[in-house]
Amino acid sequence: MNSLTVHGTEIWYADRGTEQPVVLVHGFPLDHTMWAELIDALAGPATRILAPDLRGFGRSPLGTIGDAKFTMDQFADDLAAWLDALAIREPVVFCGLSMGGYIAFQFCRKYAARLRGLILCDTKATADTPEGAAARRDTAERVLREGTAPLIEGMLPKLLAESTVRQRPELVERLRRTIAAGNPQGIAAAARGMAERPDMTAALGQIRCPTLVVVGQHDAISPPAEMRRLAAAISGAKLAEIPAAGHMAPMENPVAVSGATREFLAGI
Ligand code: MLT
Repeated sequence: MNSLTVHGTEIWYADRGTEQPVVLVHGFPLDHTMWAELIDALAGPATRILAPDLRGFGRSPLGTIGDAKFTMDQFADDLAAWLDALAIREPVVFCGLSMGGYIAFQFCRKYAARLRGLILCDTKATADTPEGAAARRDTAERVLREGTAPLIEGMLPKLLAESTVRQRPELVERLRRTIAAGNPQGIAAAARGMAERPDMTAALGQIRCPTLVVVGQHDAISPPAEMRRLAAAISGAKLAEIPAAGHMAPMENPVAVSGATREFLAGI
């Protein structure tokens, strides 16, 4: 892994392959290791995969912008500055899973000219309901008080399809370890930021770059029906429904997700 200093913090990232940059942005409360299978499948002479740990996640420290709240906007600004630091001036394909997708919407809003394509994976354009936002703030307080254990119990069962939980104990364990190792302050700051994220539904019609929408058929957090509506609202977007997968489709069925991604990349 490499690191670069961006907006007062070190951003650690994986970087493999050459040519077309594809940025993979992880979900909450995870880090770039959730993309391991996709990095192996996609990085090569024509595709440069860059997978950062967002500030406060994985190896990237919180930094100096304050640790009370990280908005999706701030994360998008970090990523634009990180691309500058990497001297990547050509447009990138931005792929975000769940919280990574919330960040993708902000990146698209602010840095549309830097996008060659967009991959929205198991995410949603809507904001939290007032109850959902309140629950996130409670989660933030709880994680700061008690550490990551309550988050593991609360989130882990929702992240994976039932069949994955039954048949792939090693995947469950991998996610458990990633969440357990998370930085409570980073998790709390991102939870507060997500609680404030804007509803982007009305902006979907303004997305102009080629877009692929990916959803696990058993995603309990961003259900297929919602993702079909999201894809229908983006002009020309393609939709890939991934069998035998829940919210963590790229980990649960990497063959199908990398196949859909490869086809998308070849067509843009
Ligand atoms: C994620 O995977 O990033 C989370 O499920 C996002 C969320 O809690 O809304």
